[in-house]
Amino acid sequence: MYLTREEERILNGECGWANQTCMKILVRLGDLFDAQKLIPIDSAHVSGVSYKTLGDAPIEFLKALADCGGRVKVKTTLNPQSLDPKYLVKKLPENLVKKQLSILEQFDKMGLAQSLTCTPYYLSKVKSDSHLAWAESSAVVYANSILGARTNREGGPSALAAGIVGKTPNYGIHHPENRKPEAVVKVEARLRDETDFGALGIHLGKLLHDKIPVIENLQRPSVNKLKQLSAALATTGMTNMFHCGKCPKKQELEKITVQDSDLRRTVEELTTSQAKKPDLVFLGCPHCSLNEMKQIASLVQEKKVAPETEFWVCTSSHVKNIGEEYARDIEKSGGHVLTGVCTVVSWTEKLGIRTIVTNSAKTVYYAPSLCKAEAVLAPMKDCVKTALRG
Ligand code: F3S
Repeated sequence: MYLTREEERILNGECGWANQTCMKILVRLGDLFDAQKLIPIDSAHVSGVSYKTLGDAPIEFLKALADCGGRVKVKTTLNPQSLDPKYLVKKLPENLVKKQLSILEQFDKMGLAQSLTCTPYYLSKVKSDSHLAWAESSAVVYANSILGARTNREGGPSALAAGIVGKTPNYGIHHPENRKPEAVVKVEARLRDETDFGALGIHLGKLLHDKIPVIENLQRPSVNKLKQLSAALATTGMTNMFHCGKCPKKQELEKITVQDSDLRRTVEELTTSQAKKPDLVFLGCPHCSLNEMKQIASLVQEKKVAPETEFWVCTSSHVKNIGEEYARDIEKSGGHVLTGVCTVVSWTEKLGIRTIVTNSAKTVYYAPSLCKAEAVLAPMKDCVKTALRG
């Protein structure tokens, strides 16, 4: 990979160990994928923030980077952590809270925005055609497909390295020729709500592997439904983007047809619980938008959540602040608007949560392995009904 003189200096350690280490990560990655050079990025987004999934070993590495002067050069946001600062922080064991806070402290020293969200695109406008280095798979698919930005699916370390260097290797989806459709998906199934979009993503992710599809007949989807599709597609496959609309050159591409029966079977396979009374009703995977907060607030208005049911709505502190009135209505009903936390990488099992009802296909997919919980997929309005009924 060609490096500028400045990049060579960083690689040779003239700008300190932290910058050198990050440059080594990027050069190794670039060489692996035959990138010709590094390109400047508008922003980076780092995953691997939760102590539950990160464990102890990487904390030392983060501390070393922070102590040796590692500082981000471009806006670098963080994925959600394992707890929120108001509700779960009081319920979880002190040693876990301490470890989690020490991780955040290292990121803080390095100048990462304590955004703690998997929907960084709600924090500020992402420019079309801008180059990014994002590591949250659901946000990667959303950024490439809906926002027209360009990001490979980074790992946590490579996204952090890109944030510190301010650049990423120029390969993969950064090149326009690698963004062309490689398969045509004809949706013949009726897409009734966001859970059908999630089921579609889970189904297609398995069939497409890393191929980019053009998906026909998405039936005027809202951005919130496309967010569910993006998250689910990235859950079961390595696809980093999709196109919506008509494909001009069908004959050369693999064809996939999706019927109602494919979606129903996917939902059946995802459903692991028959429990009538879940321990937790959860909305906000990926983190809620302002519009979703508004919808939830209107569904719970003047009503009360059943006493033994936990009802969590997860979002970023940014969205909670701008949607303060909606958050207030949700909390008045007995729900909890949790900020900066991902339920899937929190310690739900330590809170006695064994069954989860949610509108997120991604959460339902991961709940048995990561949360040791059974799960049911249901649209937002049914989730809220369940929370109110208990
Ligand atoms: Fe976000 Fe966690 Fe879902 S990071 S996309 S809430 S699994």
